[in-house]
Amino acid sequence: MAKRYWIETYGCQMNKAESTSLKNKLNLYGWEEAINAEEADLVILNTCSVRKTAEDRLFGRIGRYKSLKKHHPISLAVIGCMAERYKEKLLEIEPEIDLLVGNFDKDSFVEKLEEGISDDKSISSKGSRRTMLQQEAKKVYHFSEIYGDKNNFKAFIPIIHGCNNFCTYCIVPYVRGREVSRSPMQIFGEVDHLLSGNVKEITLLGQNVNSYYYLTEDKEYSFPLLLEELCRRTPEDLWIRFLTSHPKDFSDHLIEVIKNNKQLCRHIHLPVQHGSDKILALMNRKYTRGFYIDLVEKIKKSLPDVSLSTDIMVGFPGESEEDVEQTVELLRDVEFEEAFTYYYNLREGTPAGSMRDQVPDEIKLKRLWRIIEVQDEISRNRKKERVGCESVVLVEGVSKRNNTELLGRTERNEMVVVPGNKDLIGKFLRIRAKSLRGKTLYGEVIGKG
Ligand code: SAM
Ligand code: SF4
Ligand code: F3S
Repeated sequence: MAKRYWIETYGCQMNKAESTSLKNKLNLYGWEEAINAEEADLVILNTCSVRKTAEDRLFGRIGRYKSLKKHHPISLAVIGCMAERYKEKLLEIEPEIDLLVGNFDKDSFVEKLEEGISDDKSISSKGSRRTMLQQEAKKVYHFSEIYGDKNNFKAFIPIIHGCNNFCTYCIVPYVRGREVSRSPMQIFGEVDHLLSGNVKEITLLGQNVNSYYYLTEDKEYSFPLLLEELCRRTPEDLWIRFLTSHPKDFSDHLIEVIKNNKQLCRHIHLPVQHGSDKILALMNRKYTRGFYIDLVEKIKKSLPDVSLSTDIMVGFPGESEEDVEQTVELLRDVEFEEAFTYYYNLREGTPAGSMRDQVPDEIKLKRLWRIIEVQDEISRNRKKERVGCESVVLVEGVSKRNNTELLGRTERNEMVVVPGNKDLIGKFLRIRAKSLRGKTLYGEVIGKG
């Protein structure tokens, strides 16, 4: 019988893409995906350290698998950002972990696993095999050949890994290392492979996607140039998205390229984090509120149909009520379609972790609710304006509430519920939004996309 794996993925899309790549590889080596963890030989937790809440959840999952191990012969692998952050210390805290794999070893994990696996399918937990963590000085991120699954209609493709920005609150530069861009040839190769299957939408990924830069023998690829070439090489009905853009690297050239290429979806996720210049400087975001607002104006002028989303963080050390009000004002000025809101989590080892004037938790939560309330109203008003509009949606699945209804996503990243059956999953449909119920847009199908 084939060996079976079970993967749980936490954190960002980069982790999701890396998990898909792992699955592709495990399948190539003859493994099969288990129907549940109890049936698996190997359980892999692909972890995230960005917030304490994410880590707490993972410690909970490790606890669950620790008890499962008492009755089932599973091996437990903890991979990714928590492995990178805690290193061997994690094995001391949780000795039931059989294998610890850092971000820089994810790509070679499966090959090494195969080498280390004995006939009785157990992973050796002796000596160095228990950990795959590169030493600081030698760390090099190797991109996988293929991340996406060509049988799926959506694929996430990492094009740049790591981050050089060192926002003072953020753990990512410490667990993902410095920026390294993937070769354009490898990116085009993966896209060609995915297009030979069912893929209708690709999302290019990077912690800081728009600082992509790659020098080949005869060409210098900036992010806009990469996008331009990708659009030239791919069919007109492919949807291309990218995540996450840093405002400081959002150039006029990039705006121009989006404007001139139909494949590039009219949705931009542009985290602002805060509305106060004082806090933006303490966060080391490298732009001011004025710069951000000017950038948004430029984007809206060139792309009138664009939808914008953002990330907001409240409760950063030194934040006053006045700073929060400036964030509220910015939300009202920009009118984002959507905002992902967080309260600041102290991450040991980051500069903000040792800043004075840490904000007490109850005040952080109060401020978070204030921001959520304001943004909810803005998001709802933006959605109301969409009632009556026609758009194309890519059908993503069947509604959990009603199996005669489908969930589709527009290129502006709006979810719309439309009538239909599951055969339409992965297809484009032309729809008209008819009503807004709560936070959900409902529509009718008016043709093929
Ligand atoms: N690279 C992206 C950028 O420049 O905004 C963000 C990547 S980060 C994984 C996603 C979001 O998590 C950030 O935008 C930020 O709002 C939030 N985040 C990061 N560190 C955090 C922390 N220490 N506490 C709370 N939220 C945090
Ligand atoms: Fe973290 Fe800032 Fe890098 Fe985003 S840009 S990953 S928030 S350090
Ligand atoms: Fe989390 Fe690591 Fe992504 S910390 S957000 S999984 S880069």
